[in-house]
Amino acid sequence: MKRMSIFRPGLFKGKVAIVTGGGSGIGKAITEELVTLGCRVVIASRNEDKLKKASQEMDPKGQSVFAKVCNIRKEDQVKTLVSQTVNELGRIDYLVNNGGGQFPSPVADMSLKGWNAVVETNLTGTFLMCREVYEQWMCENGGVIVNIIADMFRGFPMMAHTGAARSAVDNLTKSLAVEWAEKGVRVNAIAPGGSIYSSTAAKNYGDVNIFERTIPGLPTKRLGTTQEVASATSFLLSPGASFISGATLRVDGGGSLYSPLIWQIPEHENLPAYKWTYSPTPEEDTAEEESSSPKAKM
Ligand code: ADE
Repeated sequence: MKRMSIFRPGLFKGKVAIVTGGGSGIGKAITEELVTLGCRVVIASRNEDKLKKASQEMDPKGQSVFAKVCNIRKEDQVKTLVSQTVNELGRIDYLVNNGGGQFPSPVADMSLKGWNAVVETNLTGTFLMCREVYEQWMCENGGVIVNIIADMFRGFPMMAHTGAARSAVDNLTKSLAVEWAEKGVRVNAIAPGGSIYSSTAAKNYGDVNIFERTIPGLPTKRLGTTQEVASATSFLLSPGASFISGATLRVDGGGSLYSPLIWQIPEHENLPAYKWTYSPTPEEDTAEEESSSPKAKM
């Protein structure tokens, strides 16, 4: 496989990263770029078959991509993933929290189970990964964390569960950047637009044309690529971003400033203007007159 990166070869030589969801979509592009730049990468997700296939494809010799099954919602599995990485690869320089999931639904139709599943994966999973990597390695040795979130800045109708969870990760990113700075840990987030095309995402949405339809609403008049998110991730992980922490970088071609939301509001008259009428009591009337008389004002 031909790999490319704008960054210099060997930039991440000798480094070790964990990329959750690193076997498909944006996570796979991030893994490929890190490996191209000399990093060894542990890719972690729940599906062993997919992980093995992806690691085999990216690294047939088994020297730089290592597949580990882990459900990031489960504390014990996260602890094991992190301890195995330290034991087997000797260090953890970078953590990329990319693994996540959601399903389109209006809030009114969401079950508590569905809501909890999305919040636990996207928010709690990210918290667990950050805390364990910090506890087991970065608090002693420093490191860099990048949280991949989403364009949820105007709310996220039809995806409110993930909007709420990603917005919380945006805030968690800022808290961690401050709490862990003294230990040499930088923490940032990347918010890719929904305009980043990946076949994995297209399959998940069950609608191959969903991406095409967004193009007119994009300032770029084209979709973004997973490589463009990978490139931004490499930058934030690199010493080129050594003074950047607690930031969220939008990789969306400006779409979050311009694209229409996918939720269409039909014509309606269900939010009429507030009708307000007020009749003062006789006592209030008198008080009003007194306070506005020249004598009372003196
Ligand atoms: N990707 C999506 N859901 C995940 C989970 N629960 N654990 C790890 N990776 C995931």
